[in-house]
This record gives sequence, C-alpha cells and structure tokens, in this order.
Amino acid sequence: MTVGTRPYVGDPVTRTGDAFGRAVTRAWRRGGVSGVAYEVIERDDGMLTVHDVAKYFAPEEGWNRVERLACERVQGRVLDVGCGPGRHAVHLMNQGVEVVGVEPSAGAAAVARERGVEVVEAGVENLDRIRYQFGTILLGGQNLGLLGSRERASAALSALAGAALPGGVLLGVGIDPGMLTSSEHTAYAAGNRAVGRLPGQQRFRIRDGSLATDWFDYLLASPTELAEIVEGGDWELVDVTTDGPRYLACLAHKG
Ligand SMILES: C[S@@+](CC[C@H](N)C(=O)[O-])C[C@H]1O[C@@H](n2cnc3c(N)ncnc32)[C@H](O)[C@@H]1O
Repeated sequence: MTVGTRPYVGDPVTRTGDAFGRAVTRAWRRGGVSGVAYEVIERDDGMLTVHDVAKYFAPEEGWNRVERLACERVQGRVLDVGCGPGRHAVHLMNQGVEVVGVEPSAGAAAVARERGVEVVEAGVENLDRIRYQFGTILLGGQNLGLLGSRERASAALSALAGAALPGGVLLGVGIDPGMLTSSEHTAYAAGNRAVGRLPGQQRFRIRDGSLATDWFDYLLASPTELAEIVEGGDWELVDVTTDGPRYLACLAHKG
C-alpha cells in the first residue's frame, strides 16, 4: 500500500541485499566492539532473534568450547567455509596456519580480506574457484547448518569432499534441534515433520534495518541425523563432542 509517494509504514521489507555484510562492516568500522550493529535473524514463522555482531570479532577467550576445540584440531591447510568477517581464520593465521575463506556475503568477505584473509566469494554450493585441496574443512559458528536440508546435504558434502585432501577432516559445529525446547521451536519442528522435512530445517533471512537477505535454509541436525545424512557418502562421522545443544562433529574423508 502506498500513501502519496511513500510506502505505507506497515509494508513489509522489499529491499533485498547483503544485510549481514552491512551489519558486520558497520561493526568492523567501529573496531568490532559490542553495541554497534546487530544481526536480526528472521525465521519464516515470524520468529526473530537478535545477536550483537561483535560476536563475529570476539577473540578465542570469548568462544564456546566446541569452537575452540575445532581450531585446536585443524590439520594442514584450512578451508573456512562461511568464514564471515574472519573470526576463526584470523585466529588460525596468527597460529601460523594457512587458511582460505569461502564467503558469499561481499561485505563480510571484504572485512575478512581487510583482516588479511584470502577469501573466495562463493557459497558451499559453488566451490569451483577453490584452487587448492585442504587438510581441514572448517564449518565454524554453527555452519554445519550450511548443509541446508536433508535433500541438499549430500551435494554440499560432496562439494566439500572435492576440496579436501585424501585423509582430510571436516570439523563442523552444529546445534542439536532436539535440545531447543521453547514452544516456538517445538511447533516449528512439528510443522517440518508434517511436511516430511527434518525437524531442524530452518528457513531464515538476515535483516539489517530495512535491508534483508534472500531466504535460505539452514539445517540444525542432531548427531544421529548427521550420521544418517553422511552414510554412504565421501565422509565418515568419527567423533562428536557436545557442549549443551552445541556439538563439534569430526568427519574423516574416506578417499
Ligand atoms: C553464523 S555465520 C558464521 C561466520 C563465521 N564462521 C564465524 O563463526 O564467525 C554464517 C556465515 O555463513 C555465510 N553463508 C551463508 N550462506 C552460505 C553459503 N551458502 N555458503 C557458504 N557460506 C554461507 C554467511 O554469510 C555467514 O558469514
């Protein structure tokens, strides 16, 4: 609806763009401190969650246990998938580890590059421009979610296997959706089951002001569901370390 030449105040967001990149850039310009920019995550049932973007600049001391463990376990050159503005990549580079980031948000990729990270602007579904093979594929910051859905996960896992050296590892941080017990989460999970999806498949978009990303699917899978997804593919699930609803999954490349 429009009133004169202006959209009516209640009109939904219509501007699509790099909302995540815009929020992290604003925080980075102010030194990555808290209280400057927020990532508003909108789920397609209307649930909103808000995080201070400063968390993407936090030093290792401020990370949870599984994020720290993931970085302790890397071997060889690391492909940091969905590296954002470079939280893990910068930490690993400071330890002398060679890291390449993959990041589809132009704004986040630009910030990571300013911080010294080599970044390929791409998504997990499009890793053709990755030039090397890696000892470790890192899916930090809950990025096991990038597997997307039960249907899309095997293609993503194959693409990631193509970027890994034989004997390489995939270290992925995930969230067990069975441990999210609020009424919003249980109702959403029931809706997913009713249409044949895994209960933890979430459809999100990120908002910053009136800007919003496209909708995307993010998969919260339990360790058991992850084992089923991985079965028969290029990876073997060898180890899971839990920390509340979060866990670190270690997958070994079968090649
Ligand atoms: C939760 S943030 C984690 C950022 C960083 N790994 C960290 O922990 O600080 C998720 C990141 O994945 C990126 N991303 C979103 N869709 C992606 C895709 N299809 N492939 C790769 N990365 C993606 C986002 O732009 C964002 O930087």
